[in-house]
Amino acid sequence: MSLMDTARKVRENAYAPYSNFKVGAAIRTTSGNVYGGVNVENVAYPEGTCAEAGAIAAMIAAGDTRIAEVAVIADSPIPVSPCGGCRQKLAEFGNGDVPVTLGTTDGKTMSTTLADLLPGAFTSDYMDRT
Ligand code: THU
Repeated sequence: MSLMDTARKVRENAYAPYSNFKVGAAIRTTSGNVYGGVNVENVAYPEGTCAEAGAIAAMIAAGDTRIAEVAVIADSPIPVSPCGGCRQKLAEFGNGDVPVTLGTTDGKTMSTTLADLLPGAFTSDYMDRT
């Protein structure tokens, strides 16, 4: 199953009763494992979490840390664009050249990379405190 197919499958379980905008994300790590995540909204709207954040949480809970590839899918007119916060979250665990495929449920796709999504990411390079 392709990474996008995994994102499409988990998306069915997204909990988005307030926006009605279900999103699925899938991450493949450098060790070859695949993790899915969906957006989980809350009646207190700011408490909702994005699909990408869910996939990252599943990856970390499994003891995996390095992202090799990302796919995100939504029922949108154009391929879904990860929010700024998720771009920063993804950049924590993947190099700039990590391929990211953004998709729509009707089959449109757009290929990009983490660096293209977030030029000038705030990284650990700024944090040498030794
Ligand atoms: N959302 C994601 O989960 N990922 C994205 O890449 C874009 C937006 C969610 C957040 C919220 O639950 C809904 O989509 C509408 O913004």
